[in-house]
Amino acid sequence: MIPPKPPARPDKVSLWRYVRLFRSDILSAQPAKLYRAWMAEFRTPFFRSFMANDPTLVQTVLKDRPDDFPKSDRIGAGLRPLLGDSVFLTNGAVWKRQRRIIDPAFEGGRLRDTYGAMYAAAQAAVDRLGAQADGTPHEVEAETSHAAADVIFRTLFSIPIEHEIAADVFTKFRDYQRSQPILNLAAFIPVPRWFPRFFKGQTKRTARDIRALITQLTTQRMDAIKAGTAPDDLATKIMTTPDPQTGETFTTEEMVDQVAIFFLAGHETSASALAWTLYLMALYPDWQDSVAKEAQALTGPDFKLVGKLRLSKDVFREALRLYPPVPMMVREAGCPERFRDRGVPKGSQIVLSPWHLHRHERLWDNPDGFDPTRWATENGKKCQREAYIPFSAGPRVCTGAGFAMVEGPLILSMLLRAYRFELVEGREPVPVAHLTVRAKDGIWLRITPR
Ligand code: HEM
Repeated sequence: MIPPKPPARPDKVSLWRYVRLFRSDILSAQPAKLYRAWMAEFRTPFFRSFMANDPTLVQTVLKDRPDDFPKSDRIGAGLRPLLGDSVFLTNGAVWKRQRRIIDPAFEGGRLRDTYGAMYAAAQAAVDRLGAQADGTPHEVEAETSHAAADVIFRTLFSIPIEHEIAADVFTKFRDYQRSQPILNLAAFIPVPRWFPRFFKGQTKRTARDIRALITQLTTQRMDAIKAGTAPDDLATKIMTTPDPQTGETFTTEEMVDQVAIFFLAGHETSASALAWTLYLMALYPDWQDSVAKEAQALTGPDFKLVGKLRLSKDVFREALRLYPPVPMMVREAGCPERFRDRGVPKGSQIVLSPWHLHRHERLWDNPDGFDPTRWATENGKKCQREAYIPFSAGPRVCTGAGFAMVEGPLILSMLLRAYRFELVEGREPVPVAHLTVRAKDGIWLRITPR
């Protein structure tokens, strides 16, 4: 038995069929040989793109020479109305300055201060799920989204998801995604630049509404900081941290862009990962029982106890391997390159695919199997260093990686301690890439009190 894997397409298809497949789902649009290839070239009449699956190439692009491979501006197309100049989209000096100000808020030591808010959100998720623990099928992606959004609002602004503005941002955000299905994933690779990518009026309006709400929160916070009454949370930390090189802090305007990306990057990804982890737990009930048992050690919001959640962490890490929430990333070759003896022209799109790298048949033992014990094996350790990039790697690594690796196992453990999750017959989820890797028709599970 292997956990759900999307079907691959036939090896050869016409460009237009590929574009059509791609627009409906980026994962099933790829041929199976990509799970064995070190590199693949997609040649179209308009531009070329290269998928780099060779760990040394991934290392070159992400770690050794990141400045030569800036983020491709194609990705921004679908997100710019919402995200403006956020750290996720910028490059060069602007991006470096933003990271200098943001990174300290997410450092290890700071995580301890954030933990209380995270724990409160996990407890609230446990309480909410009580109403659904009736043994009938429930869709859990909606629940994990709710929980992850709650974590972001509590840690960033010290407000729970029930807060009027938080709840409003959360629902509007859902509308935003619905109004723009697959969020212009086409912006990711193989359609030419001139390909029409109009924003619907509705999409633009929703983006404007979300930004207005975030602006309200950020302005209020700026006032509270000036008045000396601001709570000590992530927003205050980021808004009061000066750039060590210039001494300047973010303006309210700049902070709004960053809050938008924290909300987006921080809740969609964690929600996807948690929902898949719960599904895997239903698929492997012995693992579920072990994690639930280990979770007895969580006797309160004490940061030291997180260290006890070893199985939970291994399970979550394995879920991130099989279902990396960000399935592919795109960079652009800033100058002509040679990759594996092939010429890569300047301007080529370089695709890094956690999805394929994490299941690469020439790198991993049992690549498609669920095995949280792999992290203790030689192969698992080597692959974790060289072929495991759910949070990307190098200077542009996810700012929230450490945060997410506490949040995920914590919520997982708290949920499993309280409830048992079981499969629903005929409801095997099919992974598809929306903004993050989701299940085509949601993830349905039966929930009962443990
Ligand atoms: C399981 C959860 C998460 C996963 C799998 C994940 C994954 C990623 C990945 C792969 C990237 C790089 C994207 C690229 O370079 O194209 C990224 C960037 C980013 N993530 Fe996360 N993320 C997670 C949670 C979070 C959280 C909780 C936050 C914040 C609270 C966050 C904030 C960011 C930001 C700000 C960036 C942009 C960094 C930059 O470009 O310099 N992420 N994330």
